[in-house]
Amino acid sequence: MKIIGFIASPRKEGNTAWIINQILEEAQEQGAEMQSWSVSDLDIKPCRGCLGCHKGDGDRGCLINDDMQQLYEALAYADTLVLGSPVYMGQMSAQAKIFTDRLFAHISPRFSPHFKENAVKKAAACVYAGES
Ligand SMILES: Cc1cc2nc3c(=O)[nH]c(=O)nc-3n(C[C@H](O)[C@H](O)[C@H](O)COP(=O)(O)O)c2cc1C
Repeated sequence: MKIIGFIASPRKEGNTAWIINQILEEAQEQGAEMQSWSVSDLDIKPCRGCLGCHKGDGDRGCLINDDMQQLYEALAYADTLVLGSPVYMGQMSAQAKIFTDRLFAHISPRFSPHFKENAVKKAAACVYAGES
Protein backbone atom coordinates (compact mmCIF):
# COMPACT_ATOMS: atom_id res chain seq x y z
CA MET A 1 0.00 0.00 0.00
CA LYS A 2 1.17 3.52 -0.81
CA ILE A 3 -0.10 6.43 1.21
CA ILE A 4 0.49 10.11 0.53
CA GLY A 5 -0.03 12.84 3.09
CA PHE A 6 -0.63 16.46 2.13
CA ILE A 7 -0.05 19.08 4.79
CA ALA A 8 -2.01 22.20 3.88
CA SER A 9 -0.91 24.37 6.78
CA PRO A 10 1.71 27.11 6.48
CA ARG A 11 3.03 26.11 9.94
CA LYS A 12 5.55 23.40 9.30
CA GLU A 13 5.67 22.24 12.91
CA GLY A 14 2.05 22.91 13.70
CA ASN A 15 -0.86 20.70 14.64
CA THR A 16 -1.78 19.65 11.10
CA ALA A 17 1.76 18.50 10.35
CA TRP A 18 1.83 16.59 13.65
CA ILE A 19 -1.42 14.74 12.89
CA ILE A 20 -0.45 13.87 9.32
CA ASN A 21 2.99 12.70 10.42
CA GLN A 22 1.42 10.48 13.09
CA ILE A 23 -0.87 8.89 10.47
CA LEU A 24 1.99 8.35 8.03
CA GLU A 25 4.31 6.91 10.66
CA GLU A 26 1.62 4.49 11.82
CA ALA A 27 0.95 3.45 8.20
CA GLN A 28 4.67 2.93 7.68
CA GLU A 29 4.88 0.75 10.77
CA GLN A 30 2.07 -1.32 9.28
CA GLY A 31 4.17 -1.81 6.14
CA ALA A 32 2.91 0.97 3.88
CA GLU A 33 5.13 3.10 1.67
CA MET A 34 4.58 6.73 2.47
CA GLN A 35 5.24 10.15 1.03
CA SER A 36 4.58 13.54 2.53
CA TRP A 37 4.11 16.89 0.78
CA SER A 38 3.93 20.34 2.29
CA VAL A 39 1.40 22.09 0.08
CA SER A 40 2.57 25.52 1.26
CA ASP A 41 6.04 24.89 -0.17
CA LEU A 42 4.66 24.32 -3.65
CA ASP A 43 3.58 26.69 -6.38
CA ILE A 44 -0.02 25.58 -6.91
CA LYS A 45 -2.22 28.07 -8.69
CA PRO A 46 -6.00 28.16 -8.29
CA CYS A 47 -8.22 26.38 -10.81
CA ARG A 48 -9.09 28.75 -13.66
CA GLY A 49 -12.38 27.02 -14.42
CA CYS A 50 -11.38 26.81 -18.09
CA LEU A 51 -12.62 23.19 -18.31
CA GLY A 52 -9.63 22.38 -20.50
CA CYS A 53 -9.43 19.12 -18.53
CA HIS A 54 -13.03 18.38 -19.49
CA LYS A 55 -12.43 19.12 -23.15
CA GLY A 56 -9.28 17.00 -23.24
CA ASP A 57 -7.05 19.93 -24.19
CA GLY A 58 -3.40 19.19 -23.47
CA ASP A 59 -2.08 15.77 -22.61
CA ARG A 60 -1.78 15.92 -18.84
CA GLY A 61 -5.25 16.81 -17.66
CA CYS A 62 -4.99 20.22 -16.08
CA LEU A 63 -3.53 22.83 -18.40
CA ILE A 64 -1.86 24.82 -15.64
CA ASN A 65 1.82 24.00 -15.64
CA ASP A 66 2.84 24.32 -12.02
CA ASP A 67 3.84 22.08 -9.11
CA MET A 68 0.43 20.38 -9.08
CA GLN A 69 1.68 18.34 -12.03
CA GLN A 70 4.15 16.63 -9.65
CA LEU A 71 1.32 15.83 -7.30
CA TYR A 72 -0.82 14.32 -10.07
CA GLU A 73 2.09 11.98 -10.84
CA ALA A 74 2.54 11.08 -7.19
CA LEU A 75 -1.18 10.47 -6.78
CA ALA A 76 -1.30 8.16 -9.78
CA TYR A 77 0.78 5.64 -7.81
CA ALA A 78 -0.92 6.06 -4.45
CA ASP A 79 -3.64 3.91 -2.95
CA THR A 80 -4.57 6.33 -0.23
CA LEU A 81 -4.36 10.06 0.23
CA VAL A 82 -4.74 12.00 3.43
CA LEU A 83 -5.21 15.74 3.35
CA GLY A 84 -4.61 17.70 6.52
CA SER A 85 -5.76 21.27 6.96
CA PRO A 86 -6.11 23.73 9.80
CA VAL A 87 -9.59 25.18 10.29
CA TYR A 88 -9.54 28.79 9.15
CA MET A 89 -12.74 30.77 9.63
CA GLY A 90 -14.74 27.56 9.87
CA GLN A 91 -13.35 26.13 6.64
CA MET A 92 -10.32 24.41 5.19
CA SER A 93 -7.26 26.57 4.56
CA ALA A 94 -6.85 28.35 1.23
CA GLN A 95 -3.97 26.00 0.41
CA ALA A 96 -6.18 22.96 0.98
CA LYS A 97 -9.01 24.39 -1.11
CA ILE A 98 -6.78 25.22 -4.07
CA PHE A 99 -5.29 21.72 -3.93
CA THR A 100 -8.75 20.12 -3.71
CA ASP A 101 -10.11 22.14 -6.63
CA ARG A 102 -7.17 21.11 -8.77
CA LEU A 103 -7.94 17.41 -8.15
CA PHE A 104 -11.02 17.96 -10.35
CA ALA A 105 -8.96 17.40 -13.52
CA HIS A 106 -8.03 13.88 -12.50
CA ILE A 107 -10.63 12.44 -10.20
CA SER A 108 -13.96 13.67 -11.51
CA PRO A 109 -15.39 10.89 -13.70
CA ARG A 110 -18.20 12.96 -15.11
CA PHE A 111 -15.96 15.70 -16.35
CA SER A 112 -12.46 14.56 -17.08
CA PRO A 113 -11.24 12.39 -19.96
CA HIS A 114 -8.11 11.98 -17.82
CA PHE A 115 -10.12 10.26 -15.15
CA LYS A 116 -8.55 6.91 -14.39
CA GLU A 117 -10.77 4.02 -13.41
CA ASN A 118 -8.35 3.08 -10.65
CA ALA A 119 -8.89 6.49 -9.07
CA VAL A 120 -12.21 5.24 -7.75
CA LYS A 121 -10.35 2.55 -5.84
CA LYS A 122 -8.28 5.04 -3.91
CA ALA A 123 -9.14 5.83 -0.34
CA ALA A 124 -9.14 9.43 0.79
CA ALA A 125 -9.40 11.09 4.17
CA CYS A 126 -9.34 14.67 5.38
CA VAL A 127 -8.21 15.64 8.83
CA TYR A 128 -8.70 19.06 10.34
CA ALA A 129 -6.86 20.77 13.16
CA GLY A 130 -8.93 23.40 14.92
CA GLU A 131 -8.90 25.29 18.18
CA SER A 132 -10.79 23.45 20.89
C1 LIG B 1 -6.72 32.79 10.22
C2 LIG B 1 -7.11 31.75 11.23
C3 LIG B 1 -8.45 31.39 11.36
C4 LIG B 1 -8.83 30.39 12.28
N1 LIG B 1 -10.14 30.03 12.36
C5 LIG B 1 -10.51 29.00 13.18
C6 LIG B 1 -11.87 28.55 13.23
O1 LIG B 1 -12.74 29.07 12.55
N2 LIG B 1 -12.17 27.52 14.04
C7 LIG B 1 -11.22 26.91 14.82
O2 LIG B 1 -11.56 25.95 15.53
N3 LIG B 1 -9.92 27.32 14.80
C8 LIG B 1 -9.56 28.34 14.00
N4 LIG B 1 -8.25 28.76 13.96
C9 LIG B 1 -7.24 28.05 14.79
C10 LIG B 1 -6.50 26.98 14.00
O3 LIG B 1 -7.38 26.18 13.22
C11 LIG B 1 -5.79 26.04 14.96
O4 LIG B 1 -4.90 26.75 15.76
C12 LIG B 1 -5.07 24.94 14.22
O5 LIG B 1 -4.74 23.90 15.11
C13 LIG B 1 -3.81 25.47 13.53
O6 LIG B 1 -3.24 24.40 12.80
P1 LIG B 1 -1.67 24.42 12.44
O7 LIG B 1 -0.94 24.31 13.75
O8 LIG B 1 -1.46 23.24 11.58
O9 LIG B 1 -1.40 25.70 11.72
C14 LIG B 1 -7.85 29.76 13.08
C15 LIG B 1 -6.51 30.17 12.96
C16 LIG B 1 -6.14 31.13 12.06
C17 LIG B 1 -4.68 31.53 11.92
